[in-house]
Amino acid sequence: MLDKIVVHGGRRLQGTVHASGSKNAVLPILAATLLTEEPCEIRNVPDLSDVHLMLDILDGLGMRTSFASGTVRTEVADESISTAPYDLVHQMRASICVLGPLLAKRKRAQVAHPGGCVIGTRPIDLHVKGLKALAAELQTVHGYLEGTTVGLTGAHIFLGGPFGSTVTGTANVLMAATLARGTTVIEQAACEPEVVDLADFLTAMGAQIEGAGTPRITVHGVERLGGATHEVIPDRIEAETFMIASAITCGDVRIESCRPDQMVAVAEVLRECGASVEALSAQSVRVRGSRYIKPVDVTTFAYPGYPTDAQAQIMALMSVADGISVITDKVYPDRYMHVSEYNRMGAQIRKNGPTAVVQGVEFLSGAPVKATDLRASAGLILAGLAAQGETEMHQVQHLDRGYDRIEQKLIQLGAAIERVRYAPRRRKSDRRAA
Ligand code: UD1
Repeated sequence: MLDKIVVHGGRRLQGTVHASGSKNAVLPILAATLLTEEPCEIRNVPDLSDVHLMLDILDGLGMRTSFASGTVRTEVADESISTAPYDLVHQMRASICVLGPLLAKRKRAQVAHPGGCVIGTRPIDLHVKGLKALAAELQTVHGYLEGTTVGLTGAHIFLGGPFGSTVTGTANVLMAATLARGTTVIEQAACEPEVVDLADFLTAMGAQIEGAGTPRITVHGVERLGGATHEVIPDRIEAETFMIASAITCGDVRIESCRPDQMVAVAEVLRECGASVEALSAQSVRVRGSRYIKPVDVTTFAYPGYPTDAQAQIMALMSVADGISVITDKVYPDRYMHVSEYNRMGAQIRKNGPTAVVQGVEFLSGAPVKATDLRASAGLILAGLAAQGETEMHQVQHLDRGYDRIEQKLIQLGAAIERVRYAPRRRKSDRRAA
């Protein structure tokens, strides 16, 4: 049996919704629990398939983990294991985050090379460069990154690449540096709030870190880290998805448990489109859509720029704007698999290199579509909310990687959306095989 999401378009979203904990913050934080023998407690953890996968990886690495009521508890049972196998790692790129902690704490690591994915080639050369600078030996053997070290040593590392800073690369080097001998300076470090949240967790464990959230992070290595309790920051991409959902349905939505100060770029673009965006408090934002959606030009950049993870969602909004918008993804120039799905719904989008030219249409019409990746799946749901008729989205597993109970949250706001379990149609070739 498979799942699909069915959206009946045309309803205006109204009401209040709460953002869950951040996926991109919690995944490296969970990996960081490998750095201590003591128990850790992580709160505000979203219930996502990526989180369950990271817990499976940790369990396989000799940790004992539990996850109930939004709280993960971890403790180490066996530190002799250092292999993160392909069958788990290839499902989620963030699994590479165990590499730094394993090298720092266990002095060896075999982590399957995560490979590319539909949003691009996604290299890990900067992770490797940073860890090698800390005196780890690393090589690829039979598809695995194999690493050893006699003990990591602090270094001055420039971590910028052709597409700017790297988020999980910064996380990996930061985690490794906490237990390195001496001081490490990471230049052109990622400034994302998720890196700051990781640094806060590491600091609670006893790490000495300065400058997290700026392009230069300094880490003074310590002998050992202890257990800690930590509450994960809200998921800004999830909150931004609801902000755009309000704009595309001409809605009036209040998002609680979020951080408006971390969503400035998206708020600004929505205002340019004609929506009203109002921070009601430090944890709450209200977005009111306008019937007339103005076209905008959007370019994605590293934080605090417009996030690539909200590119597919803003494209859905632009597809019904009154005029031509230009969207450029500077972080993942190939992240446009959703274009052809939007066009199936009547959008008029043309991709040209790292840029998409979106000619707004008066209305989208519901259609069967397939989610090609996590954020594309969110964008297709937004398109479905605005479309006339019914949209059926397949390949829902992408959505479940990163959105905690999104159908329930949208229903709470008045959307007509349901998850339907169905048996896939058998093909003649299947019948022959049976
Ligand atoms: C993280 C996020 C992902 C988001 C992305 C960019 C997590 C778990 N995932 O992914 O949701 O879309 O940041 O904001 O936090 N690059 C290199 N060499 C490297 C690493 C990256 O050239 O070694 C390039 C990438 O191809 C990309 C750019 O740098 O063009 C940014 O990638 P990066 O920040 O590393 O993305 P992730 O950390 O994998």
